[in-house]
Amino acid sequence: TTPPVQGEKLLGFTAVAKSLADAVVVPAGYTAKVVYALGDPLTAGTAAFKNDGTDESFENRAGDHHDGMELFGLSATGAPSTESNDRVLLAMNHEATTDQTLSSFFLHANGGTTKLPRPAAEVDKEVAVHGVSVVEVKKSGSDWKYAQDSAFNRRVTPLTDIEIAGPARGSKLLVTKYSTNGTRTRGTLNNCGTGKTPWNSFLTGEENWVNYFTRSATDDAARNDKSVVALQRYGKTQGAASRHGWETAGTDDKYARWNISKSGASADGSDDYRNEMNGMGFVVEMDPYDKTKTLKKRSALGRLAHESAAFGPATAGQPLAVYMGDDSRNEYIYKFVSAINWVAADANPADRLATGDKYLDSGTLYVAKFNADGSGEWLPLTMANSAVSGYTKYKFDDAADIAVNTRLAADAAGATKMDRPEWCSVNPANGEVYFSLTNNSNRRVEPSGSSQSAPDGANPRAYTDMKASSSQAGNVNGHIIRIKEGTGGTGATSFKWDVFLFGAESGADQALVNLSKLSADQDFSSPDGLAFARSTGLCWIQTDDGAYTDVTNCMMLAAVPGTVGDGGKVTLNYAKSAGGTVAVDTYVGKAASADTLKRFLVGPAGCEITGLCETPDGKTMFINIQHPGENTDQANLADPSKYTSQWPSNAGYGAGKRPRSATIVITKNDGGRIGT
Ligand code: FEO
Ligand code: CA
Ligand code: CA
Ligand code: CA
Repeated sequence: TTPPVQGEKLLGFTAVAKSLADAVVVPAGYTAKVVYALGDPLTAGTAAFKNDGTDESFENRAGDHHDGMELFGLSATGAPSTESNDRVLLAMNHEATTDQTLSSFFLHANGGTTKLPRPAAEVDKEVAVHGVSVVEVKKSGSDWKYAQDSAFNRRVTPLTDIEIAGPARGSKLLVTKYSTNGTRTRGTLNNCGTGKTPWNSFLTGEENWVNYFTRSATDDAARNDKSVVALQRYGKTQGAASRHGWETAGTDDKYARWNISKSGASADGSDDYRNEMNGMGFVVEMDPYDKTKTLKKRSALGRLAHESAAFGPATAGQPLAVYMGDDSRNEYIYKFVSAINWVAADANPADRLATGDKYLDSGTLYVAKFNADGSGEWLPLTMANSAVSGYTKYKFDDAADIAVNTRLAADAAGATKMDRPEWCSVNPANGEVYFSLTNNSNRRVEPSGSSQSAPDGANPRAYTDMKASSSQAGNVNGHIIRIKEGTGGTGATSFKWDVFLFGAESGADQALVNLSKLSADQDFSSPDGLAFARSTGLCWIQTDDGAYTDVTNCMMLAAVPGTVGDGGKVTLNYAKSAGGTVAVDTYVGKAASADTLKRFLVGPAGCEITGLCETPDGKTMFINIQHPGENTDQANLADPSKYTSQWPSNAGYGAGKRPRSATIVITKNDGGRIGT
């Protein structure tokens, strides 16, 4: 981080009020402009986007649902540069599409087919808007524009050939008709959070990939092996339908692959797609500067509903740590520690993916256990851990099995179930690790059934009861937990934790809900995107909310981080239905003030705010507006006045009134750093 310049004050801007406007709102003195939206052409020969459902060639256009994003600088001559403030590549995720019944309706002229089978032409479009894009963006005068004809522009889709790397490479669990030796798979899917390695490559996390596959109602018996246990643990029970019905579009393998029922006669799965889903759920590494390089799935980092992948401090002579969350109710927080120590010369390597091979293919994956006294432990997910190798519910064969069936290994190890771990980011000032825990409707004071869990120190809120309906029960507004590593730093096996902030409505009860004492200028719900700015050291918090959206659209706030332990112990007393109380102790950082937390931006209707990167000088910030108008009814497609959002066309960007996910660029009118 760079110290403040004279006259500069962190959080010096006036807080933005909560807003339901169909517009991006930023503080006075700041400007936000759209720079790159769904459908924008990425080659010179691709037609302008008409945005009426007739556009084609999405493999040469910006994908949909812009999500996590990282910035990679370019020098004036187009060489990689970590210092460029005016010419950059943005590498970003295109997580999903806005869909209702099967169809991604804004992509099709008539909204598309809402029953099976799905037409191949619709499916081909829907597949192609998923994945990753790289786009060159540059400054001319005070304006930023993307370069349609840049040779760096790239699209990766769910059909792009990708290598499996790490312990699962060549495993029988990855054998498919597409890769009979289990070393490759097709594409990347439902890409959510991102990461940037110390050697300047891009990491993308595969999140809700499970939903895209279907499995027959009789597949458990057809398989009759332990893969049934693994499929059930990942939520793919037999008979489960796929999100879009892509498997129904034809007999070609590119459609058939989405049906993972055992159908072949082979013992190893080389004649069908029974193992196809095992090829999704990883952190994937891409060289953003070289589109000829094949992406690699880093299986050593585990198979989860991945969000971001955040590196701890890269210190010569110390191992690298990568922090990750698994975003599903009652899932876990993970850390990967490299087998070898960091060598500073690797910060600028000739071959980025070869450097990834060195640091990300061998090491130890740990899962977090949070103790009630504010301490925690990293539990190793290895065959040497007898809790894992001796697990009775699932017999692990080897390290590949752990890399593929990570959730089962974490169950075996005894990890702490968390309130949906979304993004994590590392405070550059002290190496402390911040995790968004977005919300958890299954956190209950009196849990029933195996899917619900009781509050504990690290996930202390349940039945916050801000809304009466049971769908609003549990930890409604989410919180941000932070971790300080113990002895050994990145390689430590113990840590301290506390809760940095609890999301809440400002008027809510301060004894059970608004524990961080948020005011109207800083109240928020469901933190998701989380990123420290390299220049100012501010912690940016982005929301993906459904609980407070009757009052405000999703937002972004700037926070001045403290340190783990700067607050104190708090006890939450919950009334039990049969009388008496349950007391839960937690540790809360110091209460928010106008000097430590302020709302900076509110997005258009129906959107989520996500993804954040900035130029090295901190004066230009890029963020993503994901799925504006998401709650539009497909039946209203012909009548734009009934769309719940018309952004960004109502902000003067592009043709057509259909809402589009987009990247915006934020600058300060006086040329100062963002967040001052
Ligand atoms: Fe794609 Fe968990 O957010
Ligand atoms: Ca997210
Ligand atoms: Ca979310
Ligand atoms: Ca979303």
